Amino acid sequence: MKGTERLPSLDEETVPRDPFALFALWLAAATGIAEPEAMALATVNANGSPAARMVLLRGVDERGFVFFTNYGSAKGRDLATNERVAAVFYWGPLGRQVRIEGTVARVETEESDAYFARRPRGHQLSAWASAQSSVVSDRSALERNVAEAERRFSGKDVPRPPHWGGYRISPERIEFWQHRADRLHDRILYTRTNNGWQKSRLSP
Ligand SMILES: Cc1cc2nc3c(=O)[nH]c(=O)nc-3n(C[C@H](O)[C@H](O)[C@H](O)COP(=O)(O)O)c2cc1C
Repeated sequence: MKGTERLPSLDEETVPRDPFALFALWLAAATGIAEPEAMALATVNANGSPAARMVLLRGVDERGFVFFTNYGSAKGRDLATNERVAAVFYWGPLGRQVRIEGTVARVETEESDAYFARRPRGHQLSAWASAQSSVVSDRSALERNVAEAERRFSGKDVPRPPHWGGYRISPERIEFWQHRADRLHDRILYTRTNNGWQKSRLSP
């Protein structure tokens, strides 16, 4: 990576006490990078095998990190048997990575309803038409499902499918990684304790 000597440093003495405050600063700084809200999400299935895929961060506050998906998808099935997840953001031009580990819970149905209602109609229809992660014979089968959903909801608002909604990752560990020269990167780990967050520096 070029020009990283100009990248800021991370100092455990001066970073915010609250990792969500630091996350908000870093997310704001990533504005302008393609898909700054994209994170890799890792889940573990009933056999203990991990799987990872990208999802989009759709909300964050002191309760955690929210994404939306199909509850019946492969990730949804994983999460039904094992609530533990890991997630990673990477903002290359800033030389930054954020790693999150914790557990998920479904968000309140009202929160899923509100987010679904704000989505474009085409996205809403696709949520009805696609049994995410299941094998489909060909693309035309998907398109037929969309046409059927269009007929079903013609002239009406598209309601949220019961199999679609949000999860909130409640983090136990959040690590902020800042690229520095000569591979001497800064790594500040926040670990949740009974009375707040504990900060430590990790070797790069
Ligand atoms: C940049 C990016 C963002 C994505 N965001 C989401 C998302 O927010 N929710 C979602 O269900 N799938 C999203 N996907 C698709 C997932 O990566 C994945 O293909 C899908 O959720 C099925 O995963 P699963 O079979 O492991 O459940 C995104 C893909 C990319 C490349």
